[in-house]
Amino acid sequence: MSETAIASRCNESSTGVETYTVRIADWRNDSQVLHAVREAVFIREQGVPAELEWDEFDAGCIHLIARDAAQKGIGTARLFPHGVIGRMAVLKEWRGKGVGATLMHCLLEEAIKRQIQQVVLHAQAHAGGFYARFGFRAVGKQFMEAGIPHVRMVLRLAGRSVDQF
Ligand SMILES: CC(C)(COP(=O)(O)OP(=O)(O)OC[C@H]1O[C@@H](n2cnc3c(N)ncnc32)[C@H](O)[C@@H]1OP(=O)(O)O)[C@@H](O)C(=O)NCCC(=O)NCCS
Repeated sequence: MSETAIASRCNESSTGVETYTVRIADWRNDSQVLHAVREAVFIREQGVPAELEWDEFDAGCIHLIARDAAQKGIGTARLFPHGVIGRMAVLKEWRGKGVGATLMHCLLEEAIKRQIQQVVLHAQAHAGGFYARFGFRAVGKQFMEAGIPHVRMVLRLAGRSVDQF
């Protein structure tokens, strides 16, 4: 398997009845699964144009993938080596079960491991509260990206451990 588990919490998580895993994915080998989740959430559900969803940066990013017990992809996120987080998505039927929080926890763990001092993201405005729970704070005014209102959010990681999130 091309994916690499990154931490005990990320190996296996449970919503109570449903089990899922979060692992680091390989863009080339796992791109079909990563594509399927992002296509369902961003392109079909949110109407983001396909030409904006796929960019040249994917190949250079660290990707996380959440899978259900049948190994179907249910969530994704990506981290640029310089600390930009993006493409955080959980399939609609899996939302509200902690998958997004586990993805974020694992991303922060990976960022801390790589000694990234600060992570930054463009949050869809409706999801700002999700990121704020991890300590991200909004910087600047709202702006439009892919036709959706966004806000830039930042989180300092320097000197912190993942247990603090
Ligand atoms: C945003 C998203 C990734 C959250 O994933 P999720 O799996 O539903 O989140 P979780 O179940 O792990 O939620 C963790 C906590 O954040 C809270 N939360 C989740 N979404 C939230 C939101 N939009 N605003 C405020 N709080 C939110 C939950 O209530 C939960 O709180 P709790 O720990 O007190 O129960 C998911 O809603 C999604 O994929 N949305 C569509 C794509 C999208 O908009 N992505 C964001 C791009 S910036």
